[in-house]
Amino acid sequence: MVNPQPALAIKLGKLELAYPTLMGSGCYGSGEEFAPFVDLSKIGAIVLKSVTRLPRLGNPTPRLVQTPAGMLNAIGLQNPGIEWYLEHELHKYAGRPCKIVGSIAGFEIDDYAYVCERLAARDEIEAIELNVSCPNVAQEGETFGCDPDLTARVVEAARATTNKTLIVKLSPNVTDIVAVARQAENSGADALAVINTVRGMAIDVETWRPRLGNITGGLSGPAIRPIAVLAVYEIAQVVSIPIVGQGGIETLADALEFFLAGATAISIGTANFTDPRIPERLVAELQAYLTRRNIGSIQEIVGRAHVEIATAHQYEGDEG
Ligand SMILES: Cc1cc2nc3c(=O)[nH]c(=O)nc-3n(C[C@H](O)[C@H](O)[C@H](O)COP(=O)(O)O)c2cc1C
Repeated sequence: MVNPQPALAIKLGKLELAYPTLMGSGCYGSGEEFAPFVDLSKIGAIVLKSVTRLPRLGNPTPRLVQTPAGMLNAIGLQNPGIEWYLEHELHKYAGRPCKIVGSIAGFEIDDYAYVCERLAARDEIEAIELNVSCPNVAQEGETFGCDPDLTARVVEAARATTNKTLIVKLSPNVTDIVAVARQAENSGADALAVINTVRGMAIDVETWRPRLGNITGGLSGPAIRPIAVLAVYEIAQVVSIPIVGQGGIETLADALEFFLAGATAISIGTANFTDPRIPERLVAELQAYLTRRNIGSIQEIVGRAHVEIATAHQYEGDEG
């Protein structure tokens, strides 16, 4: 008798996905660009590029720098603003064979509430992701996601505007990401996206100038994977909402690390720039892996790497 395929379907709050694979914000366009190469029905969801209340031209170029194990980007949230977006962009997403998640960025708490209410009201959008890695203009530019209380206020403000699934995307550029995760859950988040890019920079040694027009940027790709896996592992121990793990996923083994650390789903960003077929391949490889090990569903492996450290081996901190 042939065993049924292992179940890959998962839920993020009310959002039901056929596959546990999301395409990271800013890394998959509208999906339309990839349609000639990829079966979009094999993708759990596409998270759209973050949109803001007002149009943004983005940062000066260069905006991308390749690094040994990933890349630095400083796009600067270039987008046409919510009004234009609703009128001219969103209709493109109707009838997509995978779910569409809108992403919001803002510079004041009220921005998040305003954009969330307008975007979530549209049928094309199944869920909302809050990108809290932006400076708060009312508080000397402090990044929302760096302060648990500011994060809480953003989440509460957005939560009040919609019943659709709210995913809060956490920044790793903090001292205690677990504290921010806890506050996001307490304030009404249905799921957490862990992690956004890690701050970094690169310098041109001929011109003696920073290589990014914005001077600093966000590092993504395999270089940040261990940071992301640790964040998922630690956050999974304190929250009960699902986590979308991300940061440098390219292969089946990379994806499995995140599930075993405690992620219910994974998101692929930078890898799409070199191989847009990765999402489709990962789904097939996940099925084969679970079948080979006689595991009935992806949910059975979530968090299975959690272990107690034996007292005799406990250190005050990590080596180095
Ligand atoms: C070019 C580029 C643009 C991005 N734009 C956004 C964005 O608009 N909003 C957001 O929340 N994350 C954005 N991200 C972050 C990714 O969605 C993802 O969380 C991060 O890159 C880590 O995953 P990865 O290593 O698989 O790329 C962007 C990343 C890249 C590389």
